[in-house]
Amino acid sequence: MNTPLKGILVGLGSRGHNWYDTGKRHPETDWVAYVEAAEVNRARAMDRWRLSPNQVFSSLEEAVEHVDADFVMDVTPPNVHASVASTAFKAGLHVIGEKPISDDYQAAKQMVAEGRAAGRRHMITQNYRFGPQPRTTRRLLSEGIIGEPGQVDILFTMPWADSPGSHYVTQPFMFTKDMGIHHFDMIRYVLGRDPVSVRCVTWNPSWGWHAGDASHVAIFTFDDKLHAVHRGVGCAVGHHTGWNGEWRIEGPGGTLTWEGNEIWLTHLHRAEKRRREQIFTDRTGGDHDPLLTEFVTAIRENRDPECNAVDNLKSAAMVAGAVKSAMEGGREVKLAEL
Ligand SMILES: NC(=O)c1ccc[n+]([C@@H]2O[C@H](COP(=O)([O-])OP(=O)(O)OC[C@H]3O[C@@H](n4cnc5c(N)ncnc54)[C@H](O)[C@@H]3O)[C@@H](O)[C@H]2O)c1
Repeated sequence: MNTPLKGILVGLGSRGHNWYDTGKRHPETDWVAYVEAAEVNRARAMDRWRLSPNQVFSSLEEAVEHVDADFVMDVTPPNVHASVASTAFKAGLHVIGEKPISDDYQAAKQMVAEGRAAGRRHMITQNYRFGPQPRTTRRLLSEGIIGEPGQVDILFTMPWADSPGSHYVTQPFMFTKDMGIHHFDMIRYVLGRDPVSVRCVTWNPSWGWHAGDASHVAIFTFDDKLHAVHRGVGCAVGHHTGWNGEWRIEGPGGTLTWEGNEIWLTHLHRAEKRRREQIFTDRTGGDHDPLLTEFVTAIRENRDPECNAVDNLKSAAMVAGAVKSAMEGGREVKLAEL
């Protein structure tokens, strides 16, 4: 049995509480300190988790001076991620950070450079891609089940992020930035390909609760033969999709579709044998959180984890490109120009 890696949990807001539990349950991680900027949230966490005052700090700078740790888990809002990573790398710590890597693409590039220069592992928690639908679909496509995909259509509608005053509802383009990153990263993962450009239009439905635009259509071009269209509504109050969205991947051998939690293979053209069958998803994960397992294993094996920050920049570029396109009237933005 390995000695658990010692972690500092930074950001004790709503998602921080999930990571507290996840890290506690994982046999290979141990929280040794907690950092939270807001006094009320520090007090709530100390009370709920019975923490001793010498484990709780108001800044990461203070925490790294007082505790011996291996890594930082960053669960602060996106515009804080760059400074947390920078402090952690200067202290020689590995970083696992919540998505999106940052709300600013240039800051994200700087973070990646700092992590590389420090020689530390840096992983972003793109948890959606670890689920059974994307894992199974990636395998099926790589086995050629529908031939080379030519078009992907994704519809995602959800009453997303309605907590008053949070960064989700106050900052611009949060639906595309904060939710879009999950799906855009899954597009790359499932297809095993990286897009080269994006065209995007955003708008804000009149009844919504977000200050920024909460609807978008983004068209990603991979090459002349492959395009992915993502349509999203973040303030849907009627019928809505699941968190993964409804996917339709079209190829010469038919479609793979995500219908609720299921995957279906369909080929109905009269020229060939008709098929309409559910494909049961692979068993994924394990007994413990797969992201923490991947992070800890990569540190122990001295290799980059899946969803390492260098790779994650490609998903972040999809978001940055989409926002840039939306701000520039929907023009085609080449991701290489970012
Ligand atoms: N992967 C997922 O499915 C998922 C789900 C929800 C949230 N998230 C991500 O988690 C992150 C946090 O989201 P949240 O909903 O918990 O936000 P939140 O606002 O509820 O919590 C963030 C906390 O960070 C604290 N904070 C801010 N600056 C700080 C600093 N410099 N040092 C220490 N603490 C600081 C805030 O006071 C707050 O308590 C975001 O990046 C978000 O996108 C991911």
